[in-house]
Parts: sequence; structure tokens; C-alpha cells
Amino acid sequence: MLRRTSSKFSTPTGPVGRKKVTSLELIAMRRSHQPITMVSCYDYPSAFQVDEAGIDVILVGDSVGMVELGHETTQSVTMDMMIHHSKAVARGARRPLLVGDMPMGSYEVCPKEALRNALRFVKEGHMDAVKLEGSSRERVEATRMIVQGGIAVMGHIGLTPQSISVLGGFRAQGRTNEKALWLIDEALKLQEAGCFSVVIECVPSIVAQAVTEALTIPTIGIGSGPHTSGQVLVYHDMLGLLQHPHHKKFCPKFCKQYVDVGALTRNGLEAFRREVKEGLFPSQEHSPYAMPEQEVKAFQRALAERKADARSAPSSNTATTPPLRDEYDVLDLYGHTKGNVPASKEA
Ligand code: KIV
Repeated sequence: MLRRTSSKFSTPTGPVGRKKVTSLELIAMRRSHQPITMVSCYDYPSAFQVDEAGIDVILVGDSVGMVELGHETTQSVTMDMMIHHSKAVARGARRPLLVGDMPMGSYEVCPKEALRNALRFVKEGHMDAVKLEGSSRERVEATRMIVQGGIAVMGHIGLTPQSISVLGGFRAQGRTNEKALWLIDEALKLQEAGCFSVVIECVPSIVAQAVTEALTIPTIGIGSGPHTSGQVLVYHDMLGLLQHPHHKKFCPKFCKQYVDVGALTRNGLEAFRREVKEGLFPSQEHSPYAMPEQEVKAFQRALAERKADARSAPSSNTATTPPLRDEYDVLDLYGHTKGNVPASKEA
């Protein structure tokens, strides 16, 4: 059961310190009843924001396939896609524990292949740990092999979206006594195999609570009520990033939308379109690069002369080689340092 007390790990508004979160620290948080926060995100700017907000764990989830790449399920996500997104997240986030989600097809065939792919997440994707879905004997073996290979593993039970063809779709799990008891046993197997935590997706609150009480490692809930050691949501869902009806179809009913970034984004894009169409953008304020006065005069004279030449010899080609000097090479476009560069300076 979660208790909200003061924490050395995080405050409601952000982290106290910038010390890197580790898997061991999450276990310590569970023991001291400090709720764990986790967000699924997939790129540099979102990882940066999630880190700044003091979230403890980033999952580079295979949900990327749905919310970023527009697929209807997570099943077509590949290792190469996951590595690409993991790299971007690792560049954006420093403090959170980074967990790479092993995609369908990367760990089921044999434990050795699972370890090989988990190693890719660490060596190429710069992740701290990996997550894999399910608790069958083969997956428990894969977990054991990855942990013995030196990589921390997060388990995932309940609704495991990679297996929707077996589960019969995106449906809540553990809704009978028998299935609820089975879930507890499955979670215990994952703990015994060496998982440092387990995601519990879309099960009744009472079942998630029972699993949490049966384990000594933390549980991270999604759509499973408040009685887990922590909570995870998908960045795009919680921020209302997608307004598109295609996504709305998938936006889960357990997800709380904290802001409506989608509406803000739409407003911004529409304002840009309107201002360009109406000649309002760019104004003087956003046209910053000036020529010295004497250069302006010389330029205007040269243009006038060219026009006059063109009138007297309309078929002649007036194009000349552009000057070597190109001040755009040395301009600091984002204004981090010097500002404008004198026109006289050679690039
Ligand atoms: O892919 C994902 O984002 C996930 C979380 C929803 C747990 O698996």
C-alpha cells in the first residue's frame, strides 16, 4: 500500500538531487513506501522534460509503435526501432533509470537471443535495464539469462500487449479468482528469476494489491488501481499530445490526461499558418540579420546597375560566381553566444 510521506528521492515538484536512480534504489523506495513514478517516452525532448519533472524511471516502451509511429498494435516494433529511440532518450535524460522495452520477437525464441538483444539495449541504446512481457517458462528462462548476463530486468504481467493474439485483444486480465491467483504465482516466478520490479497492466485493483503484497520487489501499475509501489503512464496519453481520432480510439480509459498539449500544438500550428498567409510573420522582430548601411547602399546601386544592363542587353547572362565569404557559416542562429557577425569578417 502506498503512503505519501516526505522523501529523499523526490518531491511533488521535482527531484531533490540529481543522483542517478538505480534498480536497487527502486527496491529501497518500495521498502520505505515511497511511490515510484515512471513514464513511457521515446525521444530527446520528451526525455529531457520527464527528467526535469523529477520522474524516477523512463521506459522506452514499445508503445512507440502506436503513439509515435501510428501502428494499431506494438507487434511490428523491431529491435532497430527500439535502439534508435533508446539512443535519443539516453541523450535527453540523466537522472531517471532508463529501461528499454524488448519488442516482440527479440526474446521469445531462446534465452541466448534474449541476452544478445538485451546487450544491444545497454551497449547501443545506453539503457540501464530492459523490460520483457510475460511469465511463461521460456520468458522466465530468458529473464534469468539476462540477469546472469549482468542486465537488470523489469517484468510485465496482466495485459501484455505483444500477446493480444492469444489474449483476444486489449482486455483487462485477472478478473476471476483462478486467474488472479495465477497472476500472483507468475509474479513470484519473475521475482525468483531475478526481476528488480514488475509492471502490472490492466488488472483489478484488488489483484494488483495482492501481487504487490506477495512480492518484495516493487510493482509498477498501469490501469491497475492505486495499491502498487508505483505508477506508469504513456507520455502522449497523459499530456493529451494526440488529438487525432486514430489515437483517441486507443487512448485507454484508465489514463488521466493532465494537460492538453495536442490543443496547444494545434493552436500554434494554425497561428503560424494564418500569420504566413496574412503576411504577419516574419515581422521586423524575427528578421534579425542586418547589413551595414554602406553595404546596403552599395548593394542597391549594384542591383540598379544590373537592372539597367539587363534592359540594354536582355539576352546576356548576368549570373556571377557568388562571393566566397558566407557569413551564415559563422552565425549563431540560436543566439547562444555572440549574436550577429560583422559583415567584414571572413567565414
Ligand atoms: O510500452 C509501454 O509503454 C509499456 C507501458 C505501458 C508499461 O509497456
